[in-house]
Amino acid sequence: MGMEQPVLRSFDLGTGPLTPDAFIMETGQVDLSVYTSQERFEAEREIFGRVWLNVAETAEIPNPGDWVVRDVKVRSSSIILVRGKDMEIRAFHNICSHRGMKLVWDDKGRGGRFSCPYHAWMFDSAGDLVNIPDEGCFPHVDKKASGLSPVRCETWEGMIFINLDAQGTQPLMEFLGPLTERLKNVPFGSYPYTARVGSMIDANWKLAIEAQCEAYHVRALHSRTVSKMLSSKENPYVHPLHVEFLGAHRMNSVPRNPDYELSPEKLVQAFSFMNAQQMVIADTGAQEKPEETFAGHNDVNPIRSNLWGNDQYVLYPHFIFHLSLGGWWLHRFWPIAADKCYWEAVYHFEQPQSLRNQFAVQYSLALNRDTLMEDNLALVQQQEVMQSGAKKIVQFGEQEALCKHLAAVSEAAANDAEAARIAAE
Ligand code: FES
Ligand SMILES: [Fe+2]
Repeated sequence: MGMEQPVLRSFDLGTGPLTPDAFIMETGQVDLSVYTSQERFEAEREIFGRVWLNVAETAEIPNPGDWVVRDVKVRSSSIILVRGKDMEIRAFHNICSHRGMKLVWDDKGRGGRFSCPYHAWMFDSAGDLVNIPDEGCFPHVDKKASGLSPVRCETWEGMIFINLDAQGTQPLMEFLGPLTERLKNVPFGSYPYTARVGSMIDANWKLAIEAQCEAYHVRALHSRTVSKMLSSKENPYVHPLHVEFLGAHRMNSVPRNPDYELSPEKLVQAFSFMNAQQMVIADTGAQEKPEETFAGHNDVNPIRSNLWGNDQYVLYPHFIFHLSLGGWWLHRFWPIAADKCYWEAVYHFEQPQSLRNQFAVQYSLALNRDTLMEDNLALVQQQEVMQSGAKKIVQFGEQEALCKHLAAVSEAAANDAEAARIAAE
């Protein structure tokens, strides 16, 4: 069965209009070297230095003075995100103006003052240098000009993005393009209970994204975990219910199996499923206050399918989020080397109201983690043999539309970066 092809649009990553690679969109065939070659990795390193990158959520730093640190290792950068007294969120390079020490060594904190571990130069939440111990010995230091180096930082729907290109001018809203019309006022904040997982994976970061972008692999790779929850009589190969290409980004509605039944032999699972919404399977039961959940939002489950499990948004270059009735979750995939990436996931649930809820949420997390481990272990095997050179291409099918579109956008972006590099020489 062929699938309907969504409308393809051009996109802009701040260097002018680009179109997704036509050959990849037509055939689904991608040169395998994009996952193994150092040249491609260098082009991607350049891209991560000038496009908007999702790094955190505003809810992580709710109060003035709250801060988190996020690393962008592919750019050898560490970034402080801090909420100022004026409630603005600002981003700074995590490096001291005295002699280049890493200013903050912890991951998060509060207080909005940063004292360098080396010689205790002190900076405030606006990035200003506010104290130099033994200041008389620095007659040539211009204190005003020696604040922290700012990083461009903007937010959208509670999500914090940074852009490491100090000269860049593209606003975040333009980068997000059609996505901003597509999703407005989605109640992300109704799910304040969070849990984080992450690990280093010995595989190219794009392989890791692709494993989260298609459900074709669910029947085979996840036969022991979630296959029966997703694969149904009506939709055995777990085709996406709906696909949209949104400029450089994309979304699909992921199905579930409406006939999935809790097994009387799996008592713990049954207990958990009855005591909290799970991430991988949606309860279609009436929601108490639909306007406060995703269920009541027009942009969620856009085709109103009763097979609907969750909506998945895949943002260029490295960010995915899923909206389901049970909450929402996100993934970030950080390139480390051509054959190594760091994966992090953050799960957002409604606040558990009882110990039963709490247990059920933990069960949901464990089930997700087991499923993701199946993905991540497979990726290592894939990367290892890809490097043999035995195959020249990979080939995506129509149900892998998101992977194909991501590959076509990545190809166009990498060619653009390469052309810019040659022009600069
Ligand atoms: S390097 Fe930071 S105070 Fe000296
Ligand atoms: Fe998977």
